Amino acid sequence: MILVTGATGLNGKELVRQLSAKGVAVRALVRDAAKAADLAALPHVEIAVGDMMSPETLALALSGVDRAMLNSSAVPNMLEVQSSFIAAAVKAGVRHVVKLSGIMPERDSAFRFARMHGEVEKRLEESGMAFTHLRAGEFMPSYFRQVPSILAKGAIFLPMENAKIASIDIADIAAVAAIVLTSPGHEGKIYPLTGSEALTMAEIAEKLSAATGKSIRYINVPPEEAKQAQLANGAPPYFADAITELYAERRNGGEATVYPDTAFILGRRPISFDEFARRHVAIFRGEQPAPKI
Ligand SMILES: NC(=O)c1ccc[n+]([C@@H]2O[C@H](COP(=O)([O-])OP(=O)(O)OC[C@H]3O[C@@H](n4cnc5c(N)ncnc54)[C@H](OP(=O)(O)O)[C@@H]3O)[C@@H](O)[C@H]2O)c1
Repeated sequence: MILVTGATGLNGKELVRQLSAKGVAVRALVRDAAKAADLAALPHVEIAVGDMMSPETLALALSGVDRAMLNSSAVPNMLEVQSSFIAAAVKAGVRHVVKLSGIMPERDSAFRFARMHGEVEKRLEESGMAFTHLRAGEFMPSYFRQVPSILAKGAIFLPMENAKIASIDIADIAAVAAIVLTSPGHEGKIYPLTGSEALTMAEIAEKLSAATGKSIRYINVPPEEAKQAQLANGAPPYFADAITELYAERRNGGEATVYPDTAFILGRRPISFDEFARRHVAIFRGEQPAPKI
């Protein structure tokens, strides 16, 4: 049995959908069954309720599980949540854990979530279970956060200067994860996952303009101004600080490298930003609500 954690989230839900569509039996770990009614209706999907922070709630969810996908929210206790799951998985006899990590998970990174991902990777490697690290670059749906300013001001405001970034669609991350979870040979592997192009924010704005048929500009903003805007939009201070650290890394070109792994594993070109923008044009035009990101 394959267990997908974080199954009510952006990546977990997409992975459960793709495994179901492939006819693969999958168990979805959720904290609140009411949030998983759409998943429960899919073929080959069973729902298990549990909290990764409370190992005693995971016994049924982990029973008979051979491989698991590990992912959870970017919150202050992410390291504890994922470490707690790893310990429970070892105890339950899980053979292989696939971890959704960040593109630059250095344990001494200036970006707090990169440090946590680095530490989780290390703990997983030392757990005795087989591991695969999927080190994903920026999720393309992150640009859904720009929809309010696109609609109000015809612009995206980001502290990126002229730096490039090689973002990836979550549909491709899920497609890679589905292959890694259902085929041999990925144990002990580390895959950096990006799309096939690195783009400046001016290029992203051009592509959003082309998809929506509206003029959308890129306005570079100083990091402190971007942080204040996040706080004004209701972001918790911890998260606003984390994003400020992240953009400093990105301005330094930390996420500008395009890696071949996504295309190699999928056997096709990754989804381009043009295609992503076209697929989600209703969201970028404000005609359809964006999923929570
Ligand atoms: N944003 C990016 O560009 C980017 C790039 C690379 C990597 N990442 C990493 O990707 C991860 C976030 O992925 P995502 O956006 O798919 O996540 P998400 O949409 O925030 O979903 C997180 C999921 O984890 C579940 N969860 C959280 N704590 C849990 C617990 N204690 N027990 C059981 N389930 C728990 C949540 O359940 P509930 O629904 O109950 O809350 C939800 O299903 C983070 O590790 C982040 O650092 C992000």
